Amino acid sequence: MVNPSRTAVVGDHEAREFPMSIANFEIIKRIAMEWTGISLSDHKRNMIYGRLSRRLRALGLSDFNQYCNLLEASPAAEKTEFINSITTNLTAFFREIHHFEYLARTVIPNLMRANAASRKIRIWSAGCSTGEEPYSIAMVFKSFSALKGWDVKILATDLDSNVVAKGAGAVYPIDRAEGVPDKYRQFFKRDKTSNNVQIKDSVRELIRFRQLNLLHEWPMRGSFDIIFCRNVVIYFDLPTQKKLFNRYADMLVDNGHLFIGHSENLYKVTDRFNSMGRTIYQKAY
Ligand SMILES: C[S@@+](CC[C@H](N)C(=O)[O-])C[C@H]1O[C@@H](n2cnc3c(N)ncnc32)[C@H](O)[C@@H]1O
Repeated sequence: MVNPSRTAVVGDHEAREFPMSIANFEIIKRIAMEWTGISLSDHKRNMIYGRLSRRLRALGLSDFNQYCNLLEASPAAEKTEFINSITTNLTAFFREIHHFEYLARTVIPNLMRANAASRKIRIWSAGCSTGEEPYSIAMVFKSFSALKGWDVKILATDLDSNVVAKGAGAVYPIDRAEGVPDKYRQFFKRDKTSNNVQIKDSVRELIRFRQLNLLHEWPMRGSFDIIFCRNVVIYFDLPTQKKLFNRYADMLVDNGHLFIGHSENLYKVTDRFNSMGRTIYQKAY
């Protein structure tokens, strides 16, 4: 339970709709870490206040003491909404384009030689957000006509159930597709009755979307040739990152590739990967 006598207030509380004490924020930080691995620093206070205020309004609560009591007393009731509120889901089609160029130029041709007998390729987009990343990967694979008849599957997972549902829906406002390179525009179809585009079925059928917390057990059997985990671990502390990359190495085939985000690196995190440059790694052992 929150001790109401600790009433120090975060930020410019005079202007604020809901009082949020330092003790409240500490509870939110602890629960965020426990449920998601996301490490909230103090400079995220205002952002978290803004995101969770919507929840207080929706629940008809008057302050963060009540909200923290709810999180602690009935975690199951609020867990999904809390998690969906605190995740940062920024993404884009062909974000960090050099990854997709490397995939097309180097990784796919190598896999076509290495996996010629099985004709099977497995990819995981871990922390896929609303699906732009796994669809971009799928479009690159689809543009290889020599892969026709191959068994190519992409698993797309995220902790946030809202973004997973959006990804599975495969519909995006037309401006989201504006930066897509010309050769991949053929995989979008324009919805004539709205300002949306839809991803074509030939691309969609490569992907399975699932809700998955990277900190929990992983139900997948079998290995992956490629893992994309980009712009996810920036929110995790070092011990969580170490554990996660070790598990990725276990899940990858020998020489499998790992793509991470532009502001992330594996230095002092794990030695199980060799750097190929520009946040692309290959499993070492
Ligand atoms: C900034 S987005 C990155 C999306 C995409 N990978 C990209 O680079 O464009 C980070 C995603 O990581 C997800 N995430 C955060 N913590 C997670 C966890 N513990 N398990 C699974 N996904 C998580 C968030 O929900 C969010 O959608």
